[in-house]
Amino acid sequence: PPVAERVRAVIEAHKGERGALLPILHGIQDEFGYIDPDVVPILAAELNISRADVHGVVTFYSDFRSEPAGTTTVRLCRAEACQSVGAERLVADAEQIFGVKVGQTTPDRSLTLGQVFCLGNCALGPAAQIDGKLYGRVDRSRLIEILVRAET
Ligand code: FES
Repeated sequence: PPVAERVRAVIEAHKGERGALLPILHGIQDEFGYIDPDVVPILAAELNISRADVHGVVTFYSDFRSEPAGTTTVRLCRAEACQSVGAERLVADAEQIFGVKVGQTTPDRSLTLGQVFCLGNCALGPAAQIDGKLYGRVDRSRLIEILVRAET
């Protein structure tokens, strides 16, 4: 079905809910993999809110992407336990290695760098999830090693 129809189906599924915008945005992202800026006006019109409001919510929550994700998705844990063992250092390293900020995708679309707040792997921080797989005690060199291995 055309995009607008798929968008409307997601809206229909959540319209009655309180604070429907968030579940709708999650639904859109599940449906398309990201929230295309072209979808924002449709949502605004259907929900009777301003485009700026929709856009504000999309950009506020790091869960939402405005473009398709890269082939590989790296999510680094930034919650407390991981922070206490160097998660922020790892985030800075990752941003430097990949040349993108958290929430962004490399220009060649090979990788999306994301963050997450606790992966339930706190004893083995800093924790990371790479293409859905969990890794512990990740530092700069281990991160590179995991990615190189994933490629071969
Ligand atoms: Fe990082 Fe729990 S705080 S896995």
